[in-house]
Amino acid sequence: MGIKVGICGVGAFANNFIPLFKAHPGVASVTLCDLDAAKLKEKAQLFGIARTCPSLDDLCQTDVDAIAIFTQNWMHGPQAVQALKAGKHVYSAVPSAITMEEITRLVRTVEQTRKIYMIGETSYYYPCALYCRERFQKGDFGSVVYAEGEYMHDFDHGLYDVCKWRGGERWKETAGSPPMHYPTHSVSMIVSVTGAYATHVSCLGVVDRHEDGLFRKGVNRWDNEFSNETALMRMSDGSVTRINEFRRIGHPGEVRLSLYGTQGSYEEQYGNNIWVTKDRASRQDLTSLLESKGVLARDKGDAMAEKVGGDAVFSGVSTVHPVERLPKEFIGLSNGHRGSHQFLIHDFVTACAANVPPPTNVWQAARYLVPGLIAHESAKRDGELMAIPDFGDPLGTRGSPKSS
Ligand SMILES: NC(=O)c1ccc[n+]([C@@H]2O[C@H](COP(=O)([O-])OP(=O)(O)OC[C@H]3O[C@@H](n4cnc5c(N)ncnc54)[C@H](O)[C@@H]3O)[C@@H](O)[C@H]2O)c1
Repeated sequence: MGIKVGICGVGAFANNFIPLFKAHPGVASVTLCDLDAAKLKEKAQLFGIARTCPSLDDLCQTDVDAIAIFTQNWMHGPQAVQALKAGKHVYSAVPSAITMEEITRLVRTVEQTRKIYMIGETSYYYPCALYCRERFQKGDFGSVVYAEGEYMHDFDHGLYDVCKWRGGERWKETAGSPPMHYPTHSVSMIVSVTGAYATHVSCLGVVDRHEDGLFRKGVNRWDNEFSNETALMRMSDGSVTRINEFRRIGHPGEVRLSLYGTQGSYEEQYGNNIWVTKDRASRQDLTSLLESKGVLARDKGDAMAEKVGGDAVFSGVSTVHPVERLPKEFIGLSNGHRGSHQFLIHDFVTACAANVPPPTNVWQAARYLVPGLIAHESAKRDGELMAIPDFGDPLGTRGSPKSS
């Protein structure tokens, strides 16, 4: 037994996840779906999958229990709503949506249908997030007073190609999207550690000057001129968060977290991860602990080695990843974005089986996204301080979600 999964969108990113869905012991069958018939045929052959489907509309009519959405980044919100309304559980690549209307409809649809929704937020399973969550829960930070999250990805680092294959002939319409419409990697790390969410934001943007003209009025569909945006947010626990979303930056690129508490702090700079306290001699270099290069099952203890066989390797994870809870079928399979992929798929499949919201449920997805959507509105108003709507916690945990 197990769930029947349909994978909608079998482009570049889905390649990482098709083998994981196929291998997971909780998945009974996998159906591949894409509007591009040639691509669909090629991927079905490549991954040895017999069942295919020509569109999301058709996939919704099949007997799959769950649909995993890996379509272009501006399509997810309405497609997730469509699948939920067809009675399917939904896994969605980030972002969950790109407007307040879309995210509102998405949260309401999950609440009405009571289906499982999970945002595929890779940062949630980054080693630094796992490490900080554990130390936060132990009280090692004291009270968090300040946090920094940032996603730096210069256009010269592959983004032209990505925008072209996703957008086709009209790629310039979507390439210059507001950076704060993709805030989820940076915001989620902070929200996932402290449990606090952003209540107010003031944001400033840097008007782009690059000759490619992507971030220009009349070129992209948002008339957006900002290629870099920086937001300062008031959090629900009283702390302050600073988020950077940069698309023009002389930097190799990274998703980064730093978190400062009254008792201890986690600091990250490119390639360096450090824990410090008030004691000047306390500095702990965490860089090798948090490096994602794979671990041997036997390094995770005898029980794990017994489960999977001594020298089996979980690829791409760090030593802080709890690989002991992954199925042994994932051994040796691909595992990108700092060891997050296998945890994402495992947590989605187990959430569907147990019918319990996963860690990155729709209410969390909203808290990762909405601060960025409002931040961009603030940037358009030259930094005006704006309130951020909140949708509350999962139904059944802490009362009814608050209205937006
Ligand atoms: N770290 C991360 O979380 C991360 C990293 C990379 C990509 N992503 C996300 O992954 C998603 C996919 O990126 P990609 O580069 O693979 O895109 P892609 O353009 O290569 O693939 C998208 C596919 O979806 C198909 N599609 C669109 N609408 C469809 C429909 N109605 N029915 C069936 N198929 C449909 C398209 O034909 C296309 O083949 C993006 O949304 C991106 O945001 C996330």
